Amino acid sequence: VVHVSNADGVALPVAKVAKAARAAGARVFVDAAQSAAHGPIGLDALGADFVAVSLHKMLGPSGVGALVGRPEAWDELGPFQLGGGTVVSSGPEGFELAPRPDRFEAGLSNFAGLVAVEAGLAYLTGLGWDGVAANDRRLNARATQGLQAIQGVRVIGPVASERTSIVPFVVDGLDPHDVAGYLDEAADVAVRSGAHCVHSYFARRGLTGTVRASLHAYNTPEDVDRMVAAVAQLAASVRGRSAKAI
Ligand SMILES: Cc1ncc(COP(=O)(O)O)c(C=O)c1O
Repeated sequence: VVHVSNADGVALPVAKVAKAARAAGARVFVDAAQSAAHGPIGLDALGADFVAVSLHKMLGPSGVGALVGRPEAWDELGPFQLGGGTVVSSGPEGFELAPRPDRFEAGLSNFAGLVAVEAGLAYLTGLGWDGVAANDRRLNARATQGLQAIQGVRVIGPVASERTSIVPFVVDGLDPHDVAGYLDEAADVAVRSGAHCVHSYFARRGLTGTVRASLHAYNTPEDVDRMVAAVAQLAASVRGRSAKAI
């Protein structure tokens, strides 16, 4: 189960879901890619057997993530891949697996990436989770208000207070990828765009996707205002174009 949705930024009641799943005898795997960088998480608090985090979203470099699990849950699994460091002995008659965690970590690890991750995490935890969360909320509200005030722009999903760091929106008449390209070129604003791997969510709402601003600790009110101003300019030019066509 996903903790915070990458489509609309909503946090699901994971501990409740986990309790029901456990009562039915299931193991619980929580995808915390969108939440781990914005507040404290843990196996116990989430009621999970496994929690996956994406460390590049926690200010680390690309290509690094982590899977944390309860020992008894790990012990039910075999390695999905064998390779360097996963066995204590091997021969024509078979092999003996190394203890956890080595049996799950085939090949040379991305040590350089992990060193960089440590620096990112030290920065985040140094700021303090309360401060990170407060900045997320403040900027999310500012961006939502600013975008909602623009004619032809719709913020998708629930109200800002139910979202964490994500602000998904569309500009009527434009493909989300074109909006993202414009923001990058015209205002130096980097956003994600598209269906974010959840095509069914958008299909149900008659959308091809969204533009998604993903706010974090390094963002400021000025960043938000620059994005909102650029979106306003773009939406105005689309309205002008439509008026001419009429
Ligand atoms: C909820 C969620 N799960 C998984 C992923 C994928 O993470 P990664 O980029 O580390 O593969 C993302 C990335 O956007 C995400 O938002």
